[in-house]
Amino acid sequence: MNFEESPMFRGWAAPFRAELSSQDLEVEGELPADLVGSFYRVQPDFLYPPTHANDVPFNGDGHVSLFRFTPGHVDFRCRYVRTQRFKAQQAARKALFGTYRNRFTDDPSVEHLSGGTANTNLIYHAGRLFAMKEDSPPVQIDPHTLETLDDYYTFDGKLQSLTFTAHPKIDPITGEMVGFGYEARGNGTDDVAFYGTDASGKVNWEAWIKVPYVGMLHDFALTTNHVALLVIPYTADLERMRQGHIHFAWDSSLPTWLGVMRRGGDGSDLRWYKGPLRCATHVMNAYEVGSQLFIDMDMAPGSQFPFVPSLHEVFDPTEAHGRITRLKVDLAEPAETYEMEVMYGEVCVLPRIDERYWSLPYNVGFAPVMDFTKPLDGARLSVTGLVINTWARFDHDQRKVTTYSCDNVSSLQECCFVPRSRTAREGAGYLIGIVNRYLEDRCDLLVLDAEHLDAGPLATVRLPHRLRNGIHTHWVPDWVLPVR
Ligand SMILES: [Fe+2]
Repeated sequence: MNFEESPMFRGWAAPFRAELSSQDLEVEGELPADLVGSFYRVQPDFLYPPTHANDVPFNGDGHVSLFRFTPGHVDFRCRYVRTQRFKAQQAARKALFGTYRNRFTDDPSVEHLSGGTANTNLIYHAGRLFAMKEDSPPVQIDPHTLETLDDYYTFDGKLQSLTFTAHPKIDPITGEMVGFGYEARGNGTDDVAFYGTDASGKVNWEAWIKVPYVGMLHDFALTTNHVALLVIPYTADLERMRQGHIHFAWDSSLPTWLGVMRRGGDGSDLRWYKGPLRCATHVMNAYEVGSQLFIDMDMAPGSQFPFVPSLHEVFDPTEAHGRITRLKVDLAEPAETYEMEVMYGEVCVLPRIDERYWSLPYNVGFAPVMDFTKPLDGARLSVTGLVINTWARFDHDQRKVTTYSCDNVSSLQECCFVPRSRTAREGAGYLIGIVNRYLEDRCDLLVLDAEHLDAGPLATVRLPHRLRNGIHTHWVPDWVLPVR
């Protein structure tokens, strides 16, 4: 197929495919003097058109952008991640990997290569920057040049899992990075392996568990002493893969299961709590108070991805509306189900926090929101119909929501919180992210005061070109990775 054949790869949604460097992007307004550091983002960006008509945007090659903020200046760079898949396809000048996470549809010549795209998220830990996709180990890239340093990073050979999450988390107290791999012994397997690495990047914890069924495990919850996973029914079934379908199908006949276990243990204390059918891919944050665990996720009644086949019904966009929901379990009680409380009415995706509070009691969250009270022309212009017109700040103690909304011919990508300083109070700093300017075929990067979103951008950093809708973003402050 070619890109024009599918609305998922046409117009604004067309792959970008270029690698660029731009010094001193134009800035409207004033850049805050204390906004100094590196803003990374990654977008799935097919180098070659998909081989299968049922392929999905999540299968694009990882394409990383870096906005480097120094006082008064923003420099830009973007590069493809040189994954094993990318290099093989570049050499062949065509796609060799088949439909989404389905190795049965690959060209036989790439059977021995990693199919990972490194297209989902980035994290900087122990002096290394990783680009990640949950079906494969991390890929290490240079934080300054974005050149690929290791296309299959295994933590000094210690990563036995064949996969590693795109959502590892860093414990702000110990400096440990904790993550996991699911389908850890290969596609369709019910094994999950947890890993911890200490502040120097050495593996200091490994524990293997089994899940009740093989479902998508995109993110996880980290607290001071525990980890938790929510199994949702995007199921992975080898038989369907053999038939040429993408990796997942939505099976609404299944419940959700929340698994909780101690950090640092062998997994034998793992407890499963049953819950109703829900779709929830991202954790805003989690924390524990005594024996109680609280896990905040954006949670929807039904499937949230229209391009993933549903086994039992037609995709319903209203069932896809996710709201910040607090899951609660008390480990001292014999309960077999988890409790749920919908915290806000806002329909949101991709929640973030001030990551100095990862795993700890916290008060402030951020998320892109769909504000249906405002015009949504961006939905029409975005081609895919998916549009976010608002960034919201959630202050949990008052259950207060403040927002910034873009104009009705633009849409917003994921937002990212930047603390004003190493010691600033929680939520004091900036909210940054990309806005799509559909009428100009261009993007801007917005900088807002995170405590005054309704005041509008402090600075607008103008890109001379468009970027695709990215997935996740990551800020590395100057005090962690000096850029001056
Ligand atoms: Fe994610």
